[in-house]
Amino acid sequence: MRNWLVMAPMSGKTNLAFRLIAREMGAGLVSTEMISAAGLSRGQAKTYSYVATHPDERPVAAQLFGSETDAMAVSARIIADKGIDVVDINMGCPAKKVVKTGSGAALMRDPQKTAKILTAVRRSIPVPLTVKIRAGWSPQEANALEIARVIEGCGADGISIHPRFASQGFCGKADWTLIRRMKETLKIPVIGNGDVDAPSLALQMRSETKCDGVMIGRAALSNPWIFKQTLELEQRGNFAIPGLHDRQRLIFS
Ligand SMILES: Cc1cc2nc3c(=O)[nH]c(=O)nc-3n(C[C@H](O)[C@H](O)[C@H](O)COP(=O)(O)O)c2cc1C
Repeated sequence: MRNWLVMAPMSGKTNLAFRLIAREMGAGLVSTEMISAAGLSRGQAKTYSYVATHPDERPVAAQLFGSETDAMAVSARIIADKGIDVVDINMGCPAKKVVKTGSGAALMRDPQKTAKILTAVRRSIPVPLTVKIRAGWSPQEANALEIARVIEGCGADGISIHPRFASQGFCGKADWTLIRRMKETLKIPVIGNGDVDAPSLALQMRSETKCDGVMIGRAALSNPWIFKQTLELEQRGNFAIPGLHDRQRLIFS
């Protein structure tokens, strides 16, 4: 990571063009959208296109989703061989078409399968492995800290947490206190995520939770400058707001 700010993986949004913008705007690590391990391991051309990268965006993570151990391990290796710097595993997606296959947030309900997949992926790649989780499947299954210990035990190098339950989707508020508890529980770096939509909130999340990095998603879609602005706020106490000319330059570049 070039700095503590991470661009969140976002399906249909974080393609190569957007990732290059986020890098130019100061993001310390960018990520592909989630990529199907089933598609990648079967050699599907469209799925392969999601792994396309460019040296200017590095360091870059590629995020995999799936529930089949061999497909996950093979796909992770394909990603690492393509020069991607970090393999990230999606354990947070609540979309029906994903969870019905046992992937995404459904993995949070199955610590044994999680351990099997992560152990196999860990063995298959020489690059850092990270995992992105939620608070749990539902308030009745609030197992983020237990799952995080499993993930750490499998040799993951970092974890990012969006502290809402899968059952919540994007409703309610992200529970930042869980990020803090996770940081207190684990030895590996913890990246906090959820509801950071202003530079001051990125600094607030870091100071309240002591997390190692802050991941920003939706706010970066309308304001990719948020990464640069946060670094400016940290360094000099204020930040520049892009004018019309800056916006035009970005759109036409
Ligand atoms: C359009 C969209 C697509 C998303 N796609 C993914 C994805 O592919 N993988 C993933 O782990 N999270 C995905 N997310 C969740 C974000 O990474 C992030 O956890 C969430 O938006 C909360 O962060 P925010 O409040 O900064 O937006 C997506 C979110 C949005 C809005």
